[in-house]
Amino acid sequence: MPALRFARLLVSVLPWVVFPCTMPAGAADALVPYRVVGDGIPAPLTDTPGDPRRGRVAAANSTQGNCAICHPMPIAELPVFGNLGPPLDGVGARLTEAQLRLRIVDAKRLNPQSIMPAYYHVAGLRRVAPKFQNQPMLSAQEIEDVVAYLATLK
Ligand code: HEC
Repeated sequence: MPALRFARLLVSVLPWVVFPCTMPAGAADALVPYRVVGDGIPAPLTDTPGDPRRGRVAAANSTQGNCAICHPMPIAELPVFGNLGPPLDGVGARLTEAQLRLRIVDAKRLNPQSIMPAYYHVAGLRRVAPKFQNQPMLSAQEIEDVVAYLATLK
């Protein structure tokens, strides 16, 4: 009965079509591999150079980096800044791009007690809503954009 067989096939395949993100394949390699050298990540995560203008937006945006919730930073249009973290003014003169990259990717590599979120890390997190599972807070390109922006803060 080909029609019934087709219907069965459709029912079994449909969830993967409708909910592709529940498929286990690919989840493990969702992150670009990177290498920590000393206290930094010297190699960019992407081939496309970071764009400081997009990085400024990603750092300020409350649905992306939301860095200002913890850091005073020179973004005049933001109404308020938190002060749990140090001011980021001048951080591009204090830290190299490699150092900046590791601090955004996973600050806990340097200070396991850090309250700063690991923006490019998905393993070992608890209480993550299903739709955010296996997704870093910032994409590899957004990390590069934010690094490029911070490097301009001299
Ligand atoms: C929940 C609070 C919090 C958020 C959100 C946060 N940070 Fe941090 N950040 C900290 C703290 C606290 C430190 C101090 C070092 C530590 O404890 O790890 C820090 C340190 C840093 C440093 C090192 C500064 C220095 O002078 O050594 C950089 C760079 C940095 N953060 C960038 C960012 C960026 C960019 C974002 C957004 C993408 C961000 N942080 C979001 C709390 C935060």
